[in-house]
Amino acid sequence: MKIAVLKEGSPETRVAAIPETVKKFIALGAAVCVEHGAGEAAKIADPDYEAAGATIADRAGALKDAGIILVVAGPDPASVGGAAKGALLVGALDPARRGDDIAAYAKAGLVPMAMEKMPRITRAQSMDILSSQSNLSGYKAVVDAASLYGRAYPMMMTAAGTVSPAKVFVMGVGVAGLQAIATAKRLGAQVSATDVRSATREQIMSLGAKPIFVENVAGIEGEGAGGYAGEMSPEYQAAQAELVSNHIAKQDIVITTALIPGRAAPRLISDGQLATMRSGSIVVDLAAEAGGNVEGCVAGENVVRHGVTIVGAVQLARSLAADSSALYAHNLFNFLSAFWDKESGQVVLPDDDEIVIALRVAPSRVAIS
Ligand code: NAI
Repeated sequence: MKIAVLKEGSPETRVAAIPETVKKFIALGAAVCVEHGAGEAAKIADPDYEAAGATIADRAGALKDAGIILVVAGPDPASVGGAAKGALLVGALDPARRGDDIAAYAKAGLVPMAMEKMPRITRAQSMDILSSQSNLSGYKAVVDAASLYGRAYPMMMTAAGTVSPAKVFVMGVGVAGLQAIATAKRLGAQVSATDVRSATREQIMSLGAKPIFVENVAGIEGEGAGGYAGEMSPEYQAAQAELVSNHIAKQDIVITTALIPGRAAPRLISDGQLATMRSGSIVVDLAAEAGGNVEGCVAGENVVRHGVTIVGAVQLARSLAADSSALYAHNLFNFLSAFWDKESGQVVLPDDDEIVIALRVAPSRVAIS
């Protein structure tokens, strides 16, 4: 089985395999061919891959007869010819927005496997690209906010006077939110956090932050479908808006991460609420690409409203390319190795497996040759 690792186009910085996962694939009996320069933006040079046992080639050479193609973002369908019929194309293929490309991959004889569709089950935790990348985004959101904020995070008592600690509020306590809380705590901020899932209350407290929750209105007890949140009732939304209004005026930095799968991100902060914040405050909206949690947020831009900077954060994991590539590459290896048939040296994907069903986004059932 030949595995091709493709070089991503700008603005992507990550790469779908690192020397360590190359070695692991080779130990399974695969041959790995990396497209020239694939690891450049993640600080991995071609010779590092060669030292791990990979060969280096141009795109056509890497793809030639490959049975598995590893990518971060879905490539242009016109650029992936030459692979074996039925080759698996494994990556963050974005089927919700790139339906035409998914169909084109299938038409070209590839089997697209969309890693973001990984089910939230215990067996798949180590294969979950959304978790591994969100974790780094949560960290980076807090660090980016720190560099924009014209003040320090921790309390400092000095001979020249006392610096008050920054107040950081995290809205949405999934994977990114939890890491944001942990990072802000480590930097010495006073941290509070909120979510609609009541199960997060304990997680917030266990990180030493203060939970801010809507009381006496039913939220999502535990977790919604697939571990995700659902849309809240109008009554809940009104109670949440009031709670946020009371809390947000006292905050210096707000990190929002709230997402609802398959829907626009819930609006958590209105323009009026922003206006109550102190000038110089920072709001980092990690839901920017899904429409934003904050009114006035523009994906990929910093917008200043009422003296408050709203950061429309997009794919923050890209700015930590070495770490995000390493975690992503391990996710891909963990997925493929779980289905590796040692005898034939091939990946065998059972049609009735929960993970396979979720990831196989095109109606293609082509056998791997
Ligand atoms: P996400 O990225 O879909 O959403 C982020 C957070 O926003 C969630 O905690 C959600 O409850 C919250 N949220 C949604 N609407 C909100 C609103 N109106 N106000 C405030 N907060 C709101 O979530 P993520 O990070 O993907 O994690 C969701 C859950 O899945 C977590 O419990 C996580 O531990 C679990 N999980 C399980 C995995 C597994 O078992 N394989 C892997 C990864 C996560």
